[in-house]
Amino acid sequence: MRNYPLEKVYRLMEPSPIVLVTTFHRGKQNIMTMGFHMMVQHTPPLIGAVIGPWDYSYKALKATRECVIAIPGADLAEKVVDIGNCSGDDIDKFGKFRLTPTEAQHVKAPLIEQCIANIECKVADMRLANRYSLFILKAVKAWANPDRKEQRTLHHQGNGTFKVDGRTIDLRKRMVKWRELVD
Ligand SMILES: Cc1cc2nc3c(=O)[nH]c(=O)nc-3n(C[C@H](O)[C@H](O)[C@H](O)COP(=O)(O)O)c2cc1C
Repeated sequence: MRNYPLEKVYRLMEPSPIVLVTTFHRGKQNIMTMGFHMMVQHTPPLIGAVIGPWDYSYKALKATRECVIAIPGADLAEKVVDIGNCSGDDIDKFGKFRLTPTEAQHVKAPLIEQCIANIECKVADMRLANRYSLFILKAVKAWANPDRKEQRTLHHQGNGTFKVDGRTIDLRKRMVKWRELVD
């Protein structure tokens, strides 16, 4: 994993890929799958994440206030679904799904080595967690693996079907009001 500029984290999340969320709580590393998320702010990067009380990860996030958002490639599709269909309450998902936890820099939750990118996050606001299971996460460090062969992301259609990242339409010339976002 190489350093990825924090001020560009929105470019990882704005396309809304399905993501994995790791936590570390009471000596245990865990992973869950998350489709409900959104960018909230460019700098510092804030990400809204819906993590429900039915998830073991909810307890972990509430207690530790730290997590990593890992962005899987299309080659990890089956694992992404299976990770979201079992609980860290009962099993070690890193072991079961043969994913490699790597030490993060600012949080105890691990990076996932096999992913395209990893975003280390701290909970900035959980006032809406009880009502909407909504956590506002602040990205504090980001990593990307540009050498990974499969760079296409997965996009959940909400029913177990996924679209794989496809053609890029380059409309940068039309971003006349938002020149600072274009490079
Ligand atoms: C495609 C997919 C998307 C999901 N999106 C979310 C989500 O956005 N928020 C959430 O709380 N659970 C979501 N889930 C469910 C959790 O991943 C699931 O409850 C998981 O078992 C939680 O793991 P844990 O108990 O180890 O934390 C999703 C599951 C799948 C398969």
